[in-house]
Amino acid sequence: MRSAGWMCLAAGLALAACNGTDPVDTGTGYVPPPTTISSQPDLTGADREAVIVNHLGEGGVPNGEALYARDCAQCHADDGTGNTGFPSLVDTLPTITDAQLVHIMLTGFDIDGVDMPAYDTSYTNKQVLDVVAYCETTFNPSN
Ligand code: HEC
Repeated sequence: MRSAGWMCLAAGLALAACNGTDPVDTGTGYVPPPTTISSQPDLTGADREAVIVNHLGEGGVPNGEALYARDCAQCHADDGTGNTGFPSLVDTLPTITDAQLVHIMLTGFDIDGVDMPAYDTSYTNKQVLDVVAYCETTFNPSN
């Protein structure tokens, strides 16, 4: 099977799964699949959004919880029901898709003059996925 070995060597950098070795557990209990969001190229705008949406399910809930507490709770409240004047994610999340949540986080949201900041420059792809994982598991009873 020499030729298969060489094929693996050639494709090895792009396809780490070739030798069957599982990626290392990062300590969070999360073992990423062979091609993870962190191996994706740096993209912007709609291209980046599409890549992130392709990796839904790779978010880490504990990290998402910490990010939510730091960045979102000041407006949407710790329990997601929304502080006065801000929308309740508990009400909204069952009505929007994960992809729409990604879009809102990357582009911000302003339909009635009250602004939600965009997180496209402050969040990595993985951090976006982490917050989606936390919000969807915690605030969306239909999940
Ligand atoms: C400074 C306050 C503020 C922060 C911080 C904030 N948001 Fe928002 N968010 C808003 C406002 C205001 C809206 C509604 C905008 C509008 O209606 O024009 C909104 C809308 C949303 C919506 C759509 C809800 C709906 O009912 O339309 C989602 C989902 C959401 N935010 C998630 C998040 C997440 C996740 C974070 C943290 C990464 C976050 N927001 C941080 C203020 C904030």
